Amino acid sequence: MGKTPLVDTVYDNKKKQKEFSLVQVKDTWRRKVGKKLSKTTKGCVSAAKIYESISEKGTSWTVVSPIVFTYKVIETEGLLDPSNDTVLLGHIRDPQELESIKNTTKPLRRFVVIDQVVYKLYGPKLTEYFEVHNVVYKILPLPTTEENKSMEMAMKILEEAHKFSLDRRTEPIIAIGGGVCLDIVGLAASLYRRRTPYIRIPTTLLSYIDASVGAKTGVNFANCKNKLGSYIPPVATFLDRSFIQTVPRRHISNGMAEMLKMALMKHRGLFELLEMHGKFLLDSRFQSDSRGYESNCSEAASLSTRVAIETMLEELAPNLWEDDLNRLVDFGHLISPKLEMKVLPSLLHGEAVNIDMSYMVYVSQEKGLLTEEEKQRIVSCMVGLELPVWHSECTMDLVLHSLCERLKHSGGLVRMPLPVGLGQAGIFNDTSDEILHGAYKKWCDELGTSPNSSS
Ligand SMILES: NC(=O)c1ccc[n+]([C@@H]2O[C@H](COP(=O)([O-])OP(=O)(O)OC[C@H]3O[C@@H](n4cnc5c(N)ncnc54)[C@H](O)[C@@H]3O)[C@@H](O)[C@H]2O)c1
Repeated sequence: MGKTPLVDTVYDNKKKQKEFSLVQVKDTWRRKVGKKLSKTTKGCVSAAKIYESISEKGTSWTVVSPIVFTYKVIETEGLLDPSNDTVLLGHIRDPQELESIKNTTKPLRRFVVIDQVVYKLYGPKLTEYFEVHNVVYKILPLPTTEENKSMEMAMKILEEAHKFSLDRRTEPIIAIGGGVCLDIVGLAASLYRRRTPYIRIPTTLLSYIDASVGAKTGVNFANCKNKLGSYIPPVATFLDRSFIQTVPRRHISNGMAEMLKMALMKHRGLFELLEMHGKFLLDSRFQSDSRGYESNCSEAASLSTRVAIETMLEELAPNLWEDDLNRLVDFGHLISPKLEMKVLPSLLHGEAVNIDMSYMVYVSQEKGLLTEEEKQRIVSCMVGLELPVWHSECTMDLVLHSLCERLKHSGGLVRMPLPVGLGQAGIFNDTSDEILHGAYKKWCDELGTSPNSSS
């Protein structure tokens, strides 16, 4: 056998940098020089690269290692019906693995964290589901409220996961609840053994169309919203609209704010649907029963949730780690985090988002991007969805302070997503103080005394 040379390539002094591909042969990875490997190269070629530079100061290596996240978002009915095996197996993509699990007699193990309100309503069904499937389980009901959205709550989950001695490869943590529960469990899962797969089962409208479909996890910290968190998507999200039937009316409106966000940013049809059938959706709690309503609204629940999710996925998938700071999904999220935390717990997340969007609609109109009629239609739609459109604590100081913070964290530009007509938007970084003040005055004059203003 030949001796392996200590340095296996001759360094090209002119190029200053060498590119290596990585090839695995017989369990061992080795560097191979060059961008393209010859067709005769045997073994598994990684998508990762190593770039090596040598200078008088020494050698440096740059590692480029693409990480791909694959996750499923599955709409289903009767999720807790024992005949539906989605909760247990819906996340598995490999048909062989699925087959072998189905054929084994070894019981499955599942660790579930559930919002305690949801547990009271659906706990017996969940327990029965696991019993029927002979699952070894631990169900942990927790008071996952915005005030409790903290690292302490994440630690509590981690301690219990550890006691259950979770197998990181085969036993995904299941989170069942609203956005708060899903966010905390997501963070805990991303910490446990550095990254344990988790499943999201949203039970509020807001979490159904927004908090469950992307990659973000988080808890509040130092009185700042979602200050600690990670960008680790779940392995799967299972959507069952029937959970929403027990959600209080105010929380349905709350979720509709995030839906309206997507409508205003990129889907005129969704806006018109909310304008026309908003009351039906609120009254029916997104169930499909249209008795007593016009026949054409029976599809409104399935259509509006589907479009909201599709438009959200379109914006999130290419920018899962939010590297691109120009994000339409940030509409309504420039001022609202400060406002929400300032008045906690009086405003819900979507309500704070709506107040932010309402002001921004005035900014858009002041900039000449929206007509007066379009502005009025948007505000009327918000009022129809029973959302607050103004808040006394949303002062000009808070607006400017929030935008200033944004400036600090967004590479020196405010990057304001604004509607430019109904269902279309752009990102603007040239909004003057004069426009902000002018819009604020009109906003207060016109909406400060409206029934949908909060104080
Ligand atoms: N990760 C993300 O991308 C993302 C996106 C948007 C929002 N969020 C986060 O989501 C949170 C808001 O989520 P939310 O509005 O779902 O609030 P939430 O989780 O506080 O739930 C709202 C209330 O509804 C109750 N509830 C939940 N499901 C129920 C059901 N089926 N029946 C009856 N009651 C039910 C809960 O106990 C709670 O009291 C915020 O913390 C926000 O930061 C995260």
